[in-house]
Amino acid sequence: MAYENLILEHQDYIAIVKINRPKALNALNSATLQELSQVFTEIAQDKNVRVVLLTGNGEKSFVAGADIAEMSKLNPMQAQKFSQLGHRLMNQIENLPQPVIAVVNGFALGGGTELALACDIRIAGEKAKFGQPEVGLGLLAGFGGTQRLPRLVGSGRASEILFTADTLDAQEAYRIGLVNRVYPQEDLMNQAVSLANKIASRAPMGVQLSKSAIHVGQNIDIVSGQAYESAVFGEIFSSEDQKEGCRAFLEKSKYEYKGV
Ligand code: HXC
Repeated sequence: MAYENLILEHQDYIAIVKINRPKALNALNSATLQELSQVFTEIAQDKNVRVVLLTGNGEKSFVAGADIAEMSKLNPMQAQKFSQLGHRLMNQIENLPQPVIAVVNGFALGGGTELALACDIRIAGEKAKFGQPEVGLGLLAGFGGTQRLPRLVGSGRASEILFTADTLDAQEAYRIGLVNRVYPQEDLMNQAVSLANKIASRAPMGVQLSKSAIHVGQNIDIVSGQAYESAVFGEIFSSEDQKEGCRAFLEKSKYEYKGV
């Protein structure tokens, strides 16, 4: 499928999705949100994709937010729908079987931070900038920032970020746990591919069911979460990879996981 505002590349078991509106610093307009939804639908069905890297094309920006030009024309009903469109995409990323790594190569502001928050892992280049500038525009976060940010960094830190509209540099984002790792800018993509390859070498079903259990568990009590974990732990015992993975360990041999 051809995309106007995205670039989709494949490298071994990795899909690399680049948001590509460089003139608007990769701001998310409705068309881009819809294309992202299409690309994740395509990836969900692709058995050859085990890990997704999501990044911004160009030197400067991951995503500089939702498209302010488009938002400025919305009435209250349309604004609510725009927010819901974003939520559907963020939830789709969270529910995607494969893990998604946000490779934050520059500005990740407003909807850009929110998009990164919907990913499973965030890594950043040292020039990355995070923040929720919405209250400086007469808005508030609307793609999940008020919900996911407190869950990730705690409500005190999230409140400060959401109330002040301050920008955080990559080191500050690292310090508060908003990103897992920070790399020199020129090394970021290599490091991202190396992390993705490591994950792709593990049992795909184990990785996917771990992702699912993490997200299910965050929305329910721990005992129900444990019940879910036991159910999927049982489920994985019907896979060939489980049998072969354990056998290879016991026989001190190597096994390449097949995803079956
Ligand atoms: C539309 C944007 C944009 C955005 C940048 N551009 N961000 N267009 N929406 N979010 C456009 C600029 O208008 C400009 O277009 C071009 O990209 C380059 O941007 P500059 O401002 O000239 O670049 P620079 O001086 O380097 O500043 C970079 C920046 C700044 C600090 C990232 O662009 C900025 O503050 N952008 C807005 C960031 C923001 O507030 N994001 C949150 C949006 S609200 P021209 O045509 O002039 O070249 C949001 C809500 C989410 O995300 C929830 C919705 C429901």
